[in-house]
Amino acid sequence: MTGADIEGRYFLSYEHIHLCVRSLAEKITSSGFDPDLIVAIGTGGFIPARILKTFLKKPILTVGISYYGPDNRPAASPRTIQWIDEVQQKLAGKRVLLVDEVDDSRVTLEYCLRELLRHEPAEIAIAVLHNKRKEKKGRLPAQVQRYFAGEELDDKWICYPWDAMDITKHEQIARSGIIAH
Ligand code: G4P
Ligand code: MG
Repeated sequence: MTGADIEGRYFLSYEHIHLCVRSLAEKITSSGFDPDLIVAIGTGGFIPARILKTFLKKPILTVGISYYGPDNRPAASPRTIQWIDEVQQKLAGKRVLLVDEVDDSRVTLEYCLRELLRHEPAEIAIAVLHNKRKEKKGRLPAQVQRYFAGEELDDKWICYPWDAMDITKHEQIARSGIIAH
């Protein structure tokens, strides 16, 4: 089940997210990729990365990158909000799993991958909860050989539970597929 598809939006429950992360972890493990560390792209990647840690048991570093401005429209380019301290020491020669919630335009992912690759990790793989089926503006650098997605979704807006102002209502919608007006 994909979660409720209502009025052109997907409403996903916390349980749905957790199950999605578990299937993502299984795909990563069965591929033979064994990361040294997880890099979470904030803020959307924070909660998925933390749940992934339950299954993969690897440490998490975080980076903050924002592409959408306060008006919820894409800015000219992604902005770095926060970056890794002593980045060379932490990334050089390491197998890195880069985690975000959604692969949408791919612009943020490409920007982040290029920044991380400058620090000469042994390998970078990508894990996203959701890949939207659409033409991508960003390109994955050739060095990136492994790409994992929990689920593939149509190009619609995804309502994640951590964005909900009323989580009780959000979970009801996600479970029943009915919006209570
Ligand atoms: P991508 O490289 O991962 O494809 O991301 P892209 O540059 O296209 O920009 C993505 C921004 O838009 C991200 O937020 C992402 O979380 C958000 N986004 C894209 N599609 C959806 C969606 O269907 N639902 C939700 N809830 N968010 C979506 P950001 O500006 O980077 O900030 P943050 O929200 O992660 O803090
Ligand atoms: Mg994001």
